[in-house]
Amino acid sequence: MDFAVALDGPAASGKGTLAVRLGASFDLPVLDTGKLYRAVGVTLRASGGDPRDSGAAEAVARRLRLSALSELDLDGAEAGELASQVAVHAEVRAALFTLQREFGLQPGGAILDGRDIGTVILPEAPAKLFVTASPEARALRRWRQLAARDPSLPLEVVLADIRLRDQRDSGRAAAPLKAAPDAVLLDTTDMDIEQAFDAARRIVETARDRWRS
Ligand code: C5P
Repeated sequence: MDFAVALDGPAASGKGTLAVRLGASFDLPVLDTGKLYRAVGVTLRASGGDPRDSGAAEAVARRLRLSALSELDLDGAEAGELASQVAVHAEVRAALFTLQREFGLQPGGAILDGRDIGTVILPEAPAKLFVTASPEARALRRWRQLAARDPSLPLEVVLADIRLRDQRDSGRAAAPLKAAPDAVLLDTTDMDIEQAFDAARRIVETARDRWRS
């Protein structure tokens, strides 16, 4: 495998922003795997399907192509909620496995961010980071993004949503959110994005030096 980076962590931990910036810095393509689950949830709902129906969700996941992601509106809180509902189904996760793994194994390397990249999708990745922050810090960050679209949205609603997603992502039987044993933990609660990026860059650089030698 070429130099692949697995970047995992809970909702709104900042891993998406870090993945994009690391991609630019190390010249690696980036896949935000949350978008795959969001796309399955949104597509299923648009056709009147129920996200609790594992068979229907799996059928949508099997048909999903990376090229479809740019055509869907995946940014809202509802897409995130639908994503975490379809993500509990082992069938959906299995249907999305190959697509993610092939992206990670592409020649030249890649960065994937998600929940189970270091534990399930690319357990042999040479660089693994687990990015966290307190629920309050994550809620505030997510609220700042969402309030641009909906200024009346209360912070408490965003915090409750983050806690619910943490619970669902960590508590599910299929590929629960957890750090790989050899992942480097990065707690960004008291960091701004520049500090977090600096720390992440150093972790990836160290892993790359080790991988090369
Ligand atoms: O990262 P993002 O908030 O876009 O992810 C949306 C949801 O998709 C998560 O709450 C999680 O339930 C699910 N997900 C997952 N595995 C991944 C990426 C996302 O289960 N690798």
